[in-house]
Amino acid sequence: MRIIHPIAKMQSLAESLRNQGRTIGFVPTMGFLHEGHLSLMRAARQECDTVVASIFVNPTQFGPGEDLERYPRDADGDRIKCEDARVDYLFMPAAADMYPEKPSVFVTVEGLSDVLEGAIRPGHFSGVATVVSKLFHIVKPHKAFFGQKDYQQCAVIKRMVSGLNLDVKIIVLPTVRDQSGLAMSSRNSYLRDDERRCAAVIHRALSDAEQLVRNGVRQPEELKKAIRRILAGEQGVSIEYVEIADPDSLTPLTSEQSRMVMLVAVRLGRTRLIDNLLVL
Ligand code: PAJ
Repeated sequence: MRIIHPIAKMQSLAESLRNQGRTIGFVPTMGFLHEGHLSLMRAARQECDTVVASIFVNPTQFGPGEDLERYPRDADGDRIKCEDARVDYLFMPAAADMYPEKPSVFVTVEGLSDVLEGAIRPGHFSGVATVVSKLFHIVKPHKAFFGQKDYQQCAVIKRMVSGLNLDVKIIVLPTVRDQSGLAMSSRNSYLRDDERRCAAVIHRALSDAEQLVRNGVRQPEELKKAIRRILAGEQGVSIEYVEIADPDSLTPLTSEQSRMVMLVAVRLGRTRLIDNLLVL
């Protein structure tokens, strides 16, 4: 595996790989890698000739007072994990190269970016769409791999790709969970042991709601109430939102539908956690 820092170097490498007729699979990350990230890299390995992963803690997607400075990092551990996942190129640009001056060019996906996570974290998805589009221009992937864990992020990126006619296929893979059902996340490292045990309630609440759906309960209000009740049963969990939405537009549902996504954001101490479950 080769580690690439300069943007121009990555760009010319991508260009020559394309000229050789090789398909490029790309996994963008912010590092502190876990099984969720690695599942994307393994999928890219299976589907593409060349696998590029990136690690870049992107400042423009963090709001004031968020955890940019304390975001967990482990460059050595990440390098070994990428090697084990048979990544070919690990792109690690410097923030000063990605944003040499105060950013003035942004990619904004209106509507989808303003609800749920976007309502609580204004500007977040503009930061994500901007950096992902920059990374696409640098890595020139044929296919890019994202996790369903960040459901709204996937929706925003798919919309960006269609809206800008970008020639890249977005592949979304299932959420990888630990034994308790907690969705893996770099931010789980912030949790104390007792908080981590509490956090299992998120997936439990979503799974119980899914069971209700299977038993014929499909009214969004009833499902939301059930999820809230289960979450509230765990001390220390404070709910930011519980929503049942259309899986494509993310518009909140007010009546029974066969397709829905249930989305949850909670706070546990200082840590924000999100999860979702798709019912099709
Ligand atoms: P990061 O949180 O590091 O996640 C990188 C990718 O891994 C995203 O596609 C995310 O959805 C996926 N992922 C995270 N946890 C997962 C899990 N438990 N199971 C499956 N996939 C999981 O998301 C970002 O970084 C950034 O916003 C980024 C897209 C890199 C732009 O800066």
